[in-house]
Amino acid sequence: MSNDSILPTGQRRDVLQTVGGLAGFALIGSTSAAGAGDNGDVEGYGAVEDGRYALPELPYEYDALEPHIDERIMELHHSVHHQGYVDGANAALDTFEEMRSEGDYEDVKAAKRDFSFNLSGHINHTIFWQNMSPDGGGEPDGELGAAIDEQFGSFEAFREEFTAAAENVESNGWAMLFYEPVADLLVIGQIESQNGLAHQGAIPILTLDVWEHAYYLQYENERGSYVEEWWNVVDWDDVCRRYEFLTQTRADEVSDGKAEKDTDEE
Ligand SMILES: [Fe+2]
Repeated sequence: MSNDSILPTGQRRDVLQTVGGLAGFALIGSTSAAGAGDNGDVEGYGAVEDGRYALPELPYEYDALEPHIDERIMELHHSVHHQGYVDGANAALDTFEEMRSEGDYEDVKAAKRDFSFNLSGHINHTIFWQNMSPDGGGEPDGELGAAIDEQFGSFEAFREEFTAAAENVESNGWAMLFYEPVADLLVIGQIESQNGLAHQGAIPILTLDVWEHAYYLQYENERGSYVEEWWNVVDWDDVCRRYEFLTQTRADEVSDGKAEKDTDEE
């Protein structure tokens, strides 16, 4: 099925523009239904401060996910590894400024690669922390649960595919569940490193870090054991909120686009 058969061109453009434009909002968002803080201020999440990327606080203590994920892993992962992506993204922004002020773009390729890698790492980890909870586990219900049943056959089938994707990521990377707004679909993807095999325009709503730094101290080379334990800490309430926010945004856009088109034709 081609994209053109999913939505008329104008409506498809609207969906892509709006859902894409709100992606950062939804990605950074944490505990509220719309992905925004009480005051609607995105900076309230702590992933950005004063125009610079920043390390967000975890929504729980470092030892909160034990026995599934060790305290020391969480501490190093958050305070060292995630901080490294934050610092790298900010350094790349500084390099862009320098290049512009000096009019020297000789290093542009490396700087653009650095920014893509580090910003992706920052966003991936920000979602990862929020996707987990000491009260996690189980299965999603509501709209996400229904969508998983419809698109994958059952939660068990979804879990089997996601687990296989995670266990088979080439070297370091991620397994992710994306919301793909053009076709209104859930997609399970593998991300190599932080940004390889990206799905342009699709928005991650569930991320699982399978870099060795995420599990090696506790599970050594047993990535499969780590993935099995991780299912016990998935915060489905957070994943459901992300899904419902994005699907509702898309539905509103399609509705607004249709109303606009009807008005134009009158
Ligand atoms: Fe990581």
